Amino acid sequence: MNRLTPHDSSAVPTLDATQRKALEPIYARMQHVVPEVEWAVHAPYVAAINRLKRERNAVILAHNYQTPEVFYGIADYTGDSLGLAQHAAHTDADVIVQCGVHFMAETSKVLSPGKTVLIPDTEAGCSLADSITPADIALLRKRYPGVPVVTYVNTSAAVKAASDICCTSANAVEVVESLGTDRVIFLPDQYLGRWVASKTDVQVILWQGACEVHERFTGPQLREYRQRHPGIHIIAHPECPPDVLDEADYVGSTTGMVRHIEEAGASRVVMVTECSMSDNVAVQFPSVEFIRPCNLCPHMKRITLPKVLHALQTLSPAVEVDPEVAAGARLAVERMLAVGRGQENGPALMPRQAAVG
Ligand code: 13P
Ligand code: SF4
Repeated sequence: MNRLTPHDSSAVPTLDATQRKALEPIYARMQHVVPEVEWAVHAPYVAAINRLKRERNAVILAHNYQTPEVFYGIADYTGDSLGLAQHAAHTDADVIVQCGVHFMAETSKVLSPGKTVLIPDTEAGCSLADSITPADIALLRKRYPGVPVVTYVNTSAAVKAASDICCTSANAVEVVESLGTDRVIFLPDQYLGRWVASKTDVQVILWQGACEVHERFTGPQLREYRQRHPGIHIIAHPECPPDVLDEADYVGSTTGMVRHIEEAGASRVVMVTECSMSDNVAVQFPSVEFIRPCNLCPHMKRITLPKVLHALQTLSPAVEVDPEVAAGARLAVERMLAVGRGQENGPALMPRQAAVG
């Protein structure tokens, strides 16, 4: 019997042999990337979380960078930032547990203000989100009057609220071009901004933010991979520096990268992104050889099974966003989602320009 009492945060769950057997199908999916000795530790948490999430009518949203035991063990929906935001906007659950970083949980709260949104570790931040404030945006608007501000979702709700429209790595070019202007201010990732600039005639004014994980990859490193592994297919996230993206056969969001492996039918792949992503993708493509230049996101790795269990037991830490900030951020995110639905800018763009500029 599982000795975990549902709301006792100090108890370490245990499993008997029957319960362990019932979890075998879950372990079967991840056994190539999670050693048995580790699964023995994870399994009681997976069972306890899955039981408690049903009792709480909770949904677990996990980013592609989460570890396999989270990704395959407990998540109800997995994906890139755009996919997670879209799912958060439509879920019927009472509770959303965000297995990702803080800005992702804020986005869920902004889109579902009536729901309880939990982030298992409030310290799960992001170097991009930390690189810009609403005051910085106010200064940029003074310097470039009338130029719309396009903000990557890897930002705080307050920064989103000070922006005109959001974008993700999956839709950045489409969003920039949807505005119909000849210039945009693009925040905060300089490398994603440069990549967007290389794909459009719109002039892109950059901010100097960077992802501490992706900025560590280098072009020479990838050239070495090409030499050492003939026929390799290089797939990179657009948060990487330009010399890395120049070497890539495909550049796209984390979900776009997975789609590309399938479409290209590649047999040898190097994924130039966060480590856990290769583990998760390797499960889906057992016949593909993955070469893994591994850079960990320390923020994503703060989310662990014991912390998820604790969050479900205590319904904390819950993410709160000031209602006025949430309304502003929602407008920017909904404009982005409307672009994806082919509705140009969705909610009108001009009022925010006038109010903030
Ligand atoms: P995606 O939206 O492509 O999943 O990227 C989010 C992220 O944080 C990448 O570092
Ligand atoms: Fe932020 Fe980079 Fe981590 Fe993504 S990988 S959450 S951009 S620090």
